[in-house]
Amino acid sequence: MSVSWIEVNELKRHYQRGPQTVRALDGVSFEIDRGELVAVVGSSGSGKSTLLNLLAGLDTPTSGSIRVGERFLEKLTRRELALYRAHAHGMVFQSFHLINHRSALQNVELALYFSDLPARERKHRATAMLERLGLGDRLDHRPGDLSGGEQQRVAIARALVKEPEILFADEPTGNLDHDNAGQIASLLQELNRGGLTILLVTHDRELAERVGQRSIRLVYGKVESITSAGEVTA
Ligand SMILES: Nc1ncnc2c1ncn2[C@@H]1O[C@H](COP(=O)(O)OP(=O)(O)OP(=O)(O)O)[C@@H](O)[C@H]1O
Ligand SMILES: [Mg+2]
Repeated sequence: MSVSWIEVNELKRHYQRGPQTVRALDGVSFEIDRGELVAVVGSSGSGKSTLLNLLAGLDTPTSGSIRVGERFLEKLTRRELALYRAHAHGMVFQSFHLINHRSALQNVELALYFSDLPARERKHRATAMLERLGLGDRLDHRPGDLSGGEQQRVAIARALVKEPEILFADEPTGNLDHDNAGQIASLLQELNRGGLTILLVTHDRELAERVGQRSIRLVYGKVESITSAGEVTA
């Protein structure tokens, strides 16, 4: 029997706002295999970021379960959940979230701050990852002195330097022009071909269709459809 790597079961996240219940996620189930690049699509407010934050262990579900490998996130202790956040995944956001007064190299090194690695090894790994992403000549640049596409590559380097099992990307091309967005899309594809599992949240239907092997479409907090690349949906 083959068992999927990530399994989301009847996941709900409701917010109580006075008398009103906001059903940000309302019973979502799906599975993801190791090595897949899955796009999560849907209009604004459909629950995409809520889903990603739950998968990343940054938020707690109202009900339902998330299994990543052998971990059921809802059963982890606070310490185990902190370790999951620190080591198991990397995150990339629309607005980069880099530290502006630190260099590209320092931004990436900081991701290894809580590892047991000595400082020299942290610097070595951060430098190697930035070089791998084509930023070897930008190590000392601060985010403000980099283009948007370069800043996003620094953010991706920061996510990857921990050698995570999975990359969560929330609208990673949302602040980029067409060319830079295309470069980031190609980079994500290349990383996925190298074996990295990626969950990509995006509004951009073209991007989802271009890179995603499967797309999960959310509508009002529910899964409307799950389609494989090349499938035509009605
Ligand atoms: N902390 C919160 N309190 C109350 N409601 C919330 C909270 N966070 C999100 N919501 C609501 O949950 C719903 C889903 O939000 P979410 O951020 O997941 O949407 P999204 O699909 O990521 O949208 P976008 O494409 O605009 O980023 C929205 O209606 C939002 O207003
Ligand atoms: Mg969002």
